[in-house]
Amino acid sequence: MDDYKQGRLMDDNLLAELRQKFAFLDFDPDYGERLFFDNSGGSLRLTDAVTVKEKIDLLPDCPERYHQRANDFNEMMDRCTQDVLHVMFGAKSGSLLTELTASQTMFNMVATVIENVSGENAVTTNIEHPSSYDAVEFYCKKNQKEFRVAEANRHTGFVDPEAIAEKIDENTILLSVIASSNISGNIMDLENIIKAARAKKPDLYIIVDAVQHMPHGTLDVEKLGIDGANFAPYKFMASRGIGFAYVSDRLSKLPHRKLLAKDDKVWELGSPAPALYASMSAVMDYVCWLGSWNGEADDLSRRDLYLKGMEKIVFHERALLHRLLEGSDKIEGLRHMDKVKVFADDPDLTKRDLIVAMGIDGKDFEQLRKEYQDRGVTVYERVNTSVYSKRILEAIGITGAIRVSPFHCHTADEIDTFLAITKQLAHS
Ligand SMILES: Cc1ncc(COP(=O)(O)O)c(C=O)c1O
Repeated sequence: MDDYKQGRLMDDNLLAELRQKFAFLDFDPDYGERLFFDNSGGSLRLTDAVTVKEKIDLLPDCPERYHQRANDFNEMMDRCTQDVLHVMFGAKSGSLLTELTASQTMFNMVATVIENVSGENAVTTNIEHPSSYDAVEFYCKKNQKEFRVAEANRHTGFVDPEAIAEKIDENTILLSVIASSNISGNIMDLENIIKAARAKKPDLYIIVDAVQHMPHGTLDVEKLGIDGANFAPYKFMASRGIGFAYVSDRLSKLPHRKLLAKDDKVWELGSPAPALYASMSAVMDYVCWLGSWNGEADDLSRRDLYLKGMEKIVFHERALLHRLLEGSDKIEGLRHMDKVKVFADDPDLTKRDLIVAMGIDGKDFEQLRKEYQDRGVTVYERVNTSVYSKRILEAIGITGAIRVSPFHCHTADEIDTFLAITKQLAHS
């Protein structure tokens, strides 16, 4: 996906059609018109992903039965399992792990590795979300292992492969690394990070936090040869209430919390919720629909359709990012606006998800967020007084930022509206 370095907007008709599929895309039902540019905190919802959930949830049947409805539920869950493992993550083997949140899947995977694999230390990075950073630190302390932290390059916001390799030795149990930053949107060079790490320890366990990245790109667990990768449906057009993760077969062979009579590969504990699986499959159907739009690809497999759909998302979002940064003949972009600063602003947009960390000289971030809200724009401030953000912000040399995270269902005009409001705020 490195062609179209400045991205490519979707066909207008496709964009108009897909926008119909989102709920409350440009308004809040109680507070009126708005630009929802906080998709990193929970993305705009695909209506189908929410309505299918209600439809299934109204049925009382237990999936662990043998009548037709129970069979339907099982088929639904199998379909979603295939969708996540094979269609989304490109896995040829492995299992699905579900929990209430993506953070819980991370804690579960990290615990399983650190508590059962011999070695003396585990490595993560200083730009991880607390769910992975704290999981590694917690289980290192609990098991008397050394907790090692590789530092991001303060100037670029990326974690260099050498910085990770430096922390790894023959006694390293686990590397946990983020796929893309939920502050800057920088996509880590996982291929080279993993290559450098495995050069130091060939059988190292590697887990990737893909929560930020999956709605904006792809990740092939088979190609990368990793042991775990998680994501959160609520950041990917569906709902809160479930976190999903791919788990490799060798990770499943390690002792983990499970019903003893079940196969090692079954991580599920207790009654699953078919409605949440159906909801995620609705998201997958949508991305495949994008891939096949206008009868473009009738003969492709579901995996290829998904990749094609994601490619359209990636190119469109990159074009929106380019417009946000560079502007157009209608209005200057953030990079060229007086008093506006863009942080961790790598010039190569192929290495970035659609998130911009920015600020306006002389404006407090909290105040600025409120000023945006007053003008109908929802964004979020990350500040170093928050325990969630401090470490990550300081790792890339800043004290705070307004995080602007549009989504692929947005248009170039909506980006221009945001730019016009930013220009006003910069001069107010
Ligand atoms: C990069 C990243 N990882 C993990 C999480 C945690 O996800 P969840 O809220 O589903 O536990 C988030 C949530 O903001 C995130 O941005």
